[in-house]
Amino acid sequence: MNILVIGSGGREHALSWKLAQSDNVEKVYVAPGNGGTHLEEKCENIDIAVLNFEDLADFAKSKQIDLTVVGPELPLSKGIADFFESKKLNIIGPNKEAAKIESSKAFAKTLMQEAQIPTGAFKITESQTQALNFLQFTNFPVVIKYDGLAQGKGVFIAENKRDAEKYIDEIFIEKKFGENPLVILEEYLIGEEATYMVLTDGINILPLATSQDHKQIYDNDTGPNTGGMGAYSPAPILDDRATKYTLNKIIKPLINILQKRGIQYKGFIYAGLMITNRDIKVLEFNCRLGDPETQPILMRLESDLSEILLKCHTNSLHTINPKWLSEFAVTVVMASKGYPYSYDTGFEINGLDSLNNDKDIKVFHSGTKFLNGKVITNGGRVLSVTAKSKTITSAINKVYEAVHNINFINAYYRTDIGFKALRRTNE
Ligand code: AMP
Ligand code: GLY
Repeated sequence: MNILVIGSGGREHALSWKLAQSDNVEKVYVAPGNGGTHLEEKCENIDIAVLNFEDLADFAKSKQIDLTVVGPELPLSKGIADFFESKKLNIIGPNKEAAKIESSKAFAKTLMQEAQIPTGAFKITESQTQALNFLQFTNFPVVIKYDGLAQGKGVFIAENKRDAEKYIDEIFIEKKFGENPLVILEEYLIGEEATYMVLTDGINILPLATSQDHKQIYDNDTGPNTGGMGAYSPAPILDDRATKYTLNKIIKPLINILQKRGIQYKGFIYAGLMITNRDIKVLEFNCRLGDPETQPILMRLESDLSEILLKCHTNSLHTINPKWLSEFAVTVVMASKGYPYSYDTGFEINGLDSLNNDKDIKVFHSGTKFLNGKVITNGGRVLSVTAKSKTITSAINKVYEAVHNINFINAYYRTDIGFKALRRTNE
């Protein structure tokens, strides 16, 4: 079969790499892809932007693509699945209405409230007056969220009333996010974050391996939030009890309430969880796989990913039971210095070839491109260096050994990826 992967990050490189390993897959096209997918066996980059639905669909028709898989949220939230389906093309990814679990935080919070899914207390406000009124009676810190997609920049944790009022001014008066914004004011939750992802065909649910992300830019989880600076799988904090709870009290009620509203959700669901000693609450839902969480998870998947996706397409996910390696996988993101703000690109990346022969190491590319026979930096997050090993300690050692072999000007990475998992195991 021929597959089209849409996106250009580390998550899409991992998807393409894993799909290309299947004997059933002849070719994986990646639109637009990156330097890593360009170099991957059986993969070919196609220069079509993720929001150019017409050209993507024409391409899928002309190459007889059997299945398209969508990585990022933006094309999903703009209706790529609806468009492909209207052209009778097979696609894995929720339609526009279903993707609102991520593209509208107000929609997601209202669903959670209706389905009694545990989440922080909240208030949806439509005006500065409403928001300021709420602040009279709330505790601090309070979390202020813009309703729509904001590339991770829509969440502000206000330590006090003055900061909260200033941010509310920025949204409603300075129109930071445009006209007529909706703003969610939310209870601040304290605990440890973890990621629980599933694939669903709308009826059946296939849980993926657990993972944990390191969102902040600096060591010890300090500094501003990023898309993710590293991840590992499995996440020891999500033990059997916690995963059962998440599946039964969070994911199943979500699928049920979507069904009740006539929405069939076909694709990946990401539940961002806050875990305390007492309970688990949902911070957010995403309508896609996490990046970088996908990288360590797919490193541990033994089964054929193309088969899993086909089962999803034919609504028969209940007929498979994928196998996961018992090993730990750890991913360290190498970024461009300055990320998540401004940074320079265009620097040659050296040392990648030296890692090609170790089957326990895989360097997934994010912001890279292939130019004149060289791989050069082309984004904030540049590489997702991933290693697997029997224990978390040996996986961490292995991944950092690999990172030390790679160099490019202005490379920056965290030195403590995996420390939260280490705290919970003696391995
Ligand atoms: P979101 O896009 O809603 O997941 O928020 C992005 C990040 O902001 C999360 O990964 C958390 O680190 C933080 N965050 C969001 N909501 C809360 C909350 N209610 N309490 C504490 N931290 C939060
Ligand atoms: N790593 C967080 C996300 O993909 O949203």
